[in-house]
Amino acid sequence: MRARKIAEGIWWVGAIDWNVRDFHGYSTSFGSTYNAYLILDEKNVLVDTVKAPFYLEMLGRISEIIDPSRIDIVVANHVEMDHSGSLLPIVERIGSPLVVTSERGKKGLEKHYQKSLRFRTVKSGETLSIGHRTLSFVEAPMLHWPDSMFTYVKEDQLLLPNDAFGQHFASCQRFEDEVGEDVMRHAAKYYANILWPLAPLILKKVEEVVKMGIPIDMIAPSHGLIWRKNPSRIIQAYVEWSQGKTARKALVVYDTMWGSTEKIAKAILKGLVEEGVDTKLLHLRSNHRSDIIEEMLEARGILLGSPTLNNGMFPTLGDFLTYMRGLRPKGKIFGLFGSHGWGGGAIKEMRRHLEAEKFEIWEKELSVQFVPDENELKSATEFGREFAKRIL
Ligand code: FEO
Repeated sequence: MRARKIAEGIWWVGAIDWNVRDFHGYSTSFGSTYNAYLILDEKNVLVDTVKAPFYLEMLGRISEIIDPSRIDIVVANHVEMDHSGSLLPIVERIGSPLVVTSERGKKGLEKHYQKSLRFRTVKSGETLSIGHRTLSFVEAPMLHWPDSMFTYVKEDQLLLPNDAFGQHFASCQRFEDEVGEDVMRHAAKYYANILWPLAPLILKKVEEVVKMGIPIDMIAPSHGLIWRKNPSRIIQAYVEWSQGKTARKALVVYDTMWGSTEKIAKAILKGLVEEGVDTKLLHLRSNHRSDIIEEMLEARGILLGSPTLNNGMFPTLGDFLTYMRGLRPKGKIFGLFGSHGWGGGAIKEMRRHLEAEKFEIWEKELSVQFVPDENELKSATEFGREFAKRIL
């Protein structure tokens, strides 16, 4: 696949990773892309690079447009290796280009690669004329790392925000309007699994960019598709996700040993559905944790179910709670249920984990010994109905 022009004199020269299926614990079922952009002007600029194994792919695309040695400046918006992994080889290939990054970016790149490059560090509001165009920089700490920054091309009204507004989605298409509605699903999963803990910072950064009054015609992130048809749509979605807007939706997330917790989970689901709640049943060994997190983004209520194993919760619940804790979802109400043989302990352990992180927990809980009988299943349905009223 060839380099793709995204605006007059600006080219996508990144790489497509069709086969990546795990991105530090996130299931990238649709692969990913590492987007790099080449801006041709009096000074030619490469914005970001790609993961190391894809260096030659990027180099090939750059070479379709210009001799790589004609690049004058490389902008490193972010240190993480999916974007900086090809920085050293491309710098060596070019010669000695200026490397523009934030102060933290410089420190991070030096620590990662132990090389002294011809750095120029920039702060928010600084600009760099490259001929007919001016690049502006906005530091965006923690979006996704402390070093992260956005680059803005004023004359093209183009925002290059690196990780922000991205999606893990490999495709031959480069623009969101070439793909259809699925793009929002990929963007939601990406936000929930990568940026959710940073929601307050995202809100602040979006407000800052809005206050700067910079017109944005196109947003070209470092992963996935470029937002060109309606870039305000993804900005608005980020605002709503960061504000913690939820729907009357509940998830029943569970594991089961001999089927009892699953019977209870299904009876609870029945109660929720009867009360008109949009509900999903999610078995922890049939659904990847990162897909459940995506579902959580818009859910108000989460019911967690576990059988008791060795006086505690089932190990998959531990995995899920550990992963979820790091993402710090706000504004959710958790309910707990399960089954036990003699002493119990699963609910107690799940409660302890949730309380430690100050999650809101519904006061009621439901545990059934061995196999639920007809009356106990009726109680489980009633439990679901009551939970539905709790998340009105
Ligand atoms: Fe896509 Fe934080 O790297």
